[in-house]
Amino acid sequence: MTGSFPAARPRRNRKSAIIRDFVRETALSARRFVYPLFIREAEGTEAIASMPGVSRLGPEAVLSEVEAARGDGIGTVILFPLVPESRKTPRGDEAVNPEGLVPGTVRRLKARWPDLVVCTDVALDPYNSDGHDGVVAPDGTILNDETVEVLCRQAVIQAGAGADIIAPSDMMDGRIGAIRASLDGAGHSGVSILAYTAKFASAFYGPFRDALDSAPKSGDKKTYQMDPSNVREALRELRLDEAEGADIVMVKPAGPYLDVIRALREQTTLPVAAYQVSGEYAMLKAAAQLGWLHERRAVLESLTAIRRAGADMILTYYARQAARWLAEEQA
Ligand code: PBG
Repeated sequence: MTGSFPAARPRRNRKSAIIRDFVRETALSARRFVYPLFIREAEGTEAIASMPGVSRLGPEAVLSEVEAARGDGIGTVILFPLVPESRKTPRGDEAVNPEGLVPGTVRRLKARWPDLVVCTDVALDPYNSDGHDGVVAPDGTILNDETVEVLCRQAVIQAGAGADIIAPSDMMDGRIGAIRASLDGAGHSGVSILAYTAKFASAFYGPFRDALDSAPKSGDKKTYQMDPSNVREALRELRLDEAEGADIVMVKPAGPYLDVIRALREQTTLPVAAYQVSGEYAMLKAAAQLGWLHERRAVLESLTAIRRAGADMILTYYARQAARWLAEEQA
């Protein structure tokens, strides 16, 4: 009879904060957060209109932001560069400049904090005059194998600068294996690959493209990023990325794709990451600013849901703020 009402009363396990604490199934921790940073060449900071509270950071500002984030308990950052329009080219040449903004910033961060885990994004869109993640042919096709070649060089340069984790976000076929081979060939067998395994062609990247001025000049990203309707296809990408040597597999966006996170979690022994993207941040922030949502509760709930779905780690623009809220709860 314990299996049904009135003997069974699930509310007994919710009757006090202490009991709720010990029956809680999912815990959030700052150790699970990865903090994305937008970097630029000019000193100072510049606000991003569609991401209130997030700025593009100049060389000095990056250091102070990372120092503050470490103070909040964040151990990992991922870098996204704002490249001046004048340096964007059809082949994204700036992506393979060893003296470029990303390698330079990695070197400065690792020199100051050797234990900081630095992730770098591998894709051409911040560098490409077309705003696409790959090399664009005259007829508008995104060239797969030509792009992978550039991505491999980009990854080796980032690893050479000291990046701990290389994160290809481009969705070209075969890039995980090719990048793994290039890294190993260049003596970087200890550098990890965080694969954007199931990256969807999402409207939720809008504010990010504002931040980096990287929106595609023509067309969309649907010939390489995944159709939001598909989950079996995500498992196919998972098998390929596993076979090609990914260390961590990622789903992106996070909140609208919890079922995909769960599907990957059930089908792989690898760690699963999820990216709470710019549009998810912007929605929470906007509603909070209008007084329509309680920011702290809504943000922590959204992050808890992503963890509950099966993500081991979460990339989120709320990393610092959430870490501080969690610390307050513990105090
Ligand atoms: C591009 C890239 C994007 C994001 C991360 N890497 C945008 C895109 O694919 O257009 C989006 C992240 C976010 O929205 O927060 N390679």
